[in-house]
Amino acid sequence: MNTSTASLTRSRRVERLVRGQPTSDGDGVRLTRVLTQPLQQRLDPFLMLDAFGSDAASDYIGGFPDHPHRGFETVTIMKAGRMRHRDSVGNVGLLEPGSVQWMTAGRGIIHSEMPEQEQGRMAGFQLWVNLAAQDKMQPPAYRDIAPADVPQLQTADGAALRVIAGQTHGLAGAVTRPTTEPLVLDIALRPGGRLEVPLPAGHNAFAYVYGGVPLAIGDQSVASEHMAILANDATADGVLFALPADAAGEAHVLLVAGAPLRQPIAQYGPFVMNTVQELQQAVSDYQRGALAG
Ligand code: CO
Repeated sequence: MNTSTASLTRSRRVERLVRGQPTSDGDGVRLTRVLTQPLQQRLDPFLMLDAFGSDAASDYIGGFPDHPHRGFETVTIMKAGRMRHRDSVGNVGLLEPGSVQWMTAGRGIIHSEMPEQEQGRMAGFQLWVNLAAQDKMQPPAYRDIAPADVPQLQTADGAALRVIAGQTHGLAGAVTRPTTEPLVLDIALRPGGRLEVPLPAGHNAFAYVYGGVPLAIGDQSVASEHMAILANDATADGVLFALPADAAGEAHVLLVAGAPLRQPIAQYGPFVMNTVQELQQAVSDYQRGALAG
């Protein structure tokens, strides 16, 4: 395996830092909404990123009882704890530490995600990836990806990455998707480590630093629990992550990039379509039991 890093001509710079907003969803699950609705156009095709992480069962025990989705894909990345998935298609899956669930809601799915533990830590992310207008009404699909099936790479430069989606460093991720071409990498850097990730200049990209010490993204230091929106610069061919040799510990960052759809975004809760009329149709379909199946 080739573990050398590609050599970038120039790293993207950080355009803006965003702190997530504490909120709750499902049945009282406390989480941080990192990518919020006002950023959907800027970070097209990504619609939402939630980060959750708590040692207190009261923060997650209610879980996410049955609820619908239409028009996009959900990606659940588990770091700690166990959740049980059930959906209207008949899929049942266990989300465990290191696993990934990729669900294409398409024309409609109703699902639940409920904790399969009464104590201990629960942590992870949920990312929403939009579907192009012509793909929004495709049949729903669901994939559980076991921890061992997420390709991993340790570089000679002190980086460890898990390739959840897309391709990088000669590795194909657990998932590849057409049209939006999402790249989703879970990255850990050791003190003194560095990682260059090539990115197409036209793709929108952001990096969410979580747990661990601050690291440099381009030429800017970014602390934990901050999302860095990476500037689209035609002269930059990727992004550089680096950690000083005297850093007090590892840094952890989730890198997300994809091809923008450049289509109108209309959202009403768990439905994301192109027009208000399509949202009204989704609500009507759900109310008369015709959304899923
Ligand atoms: Co859901």
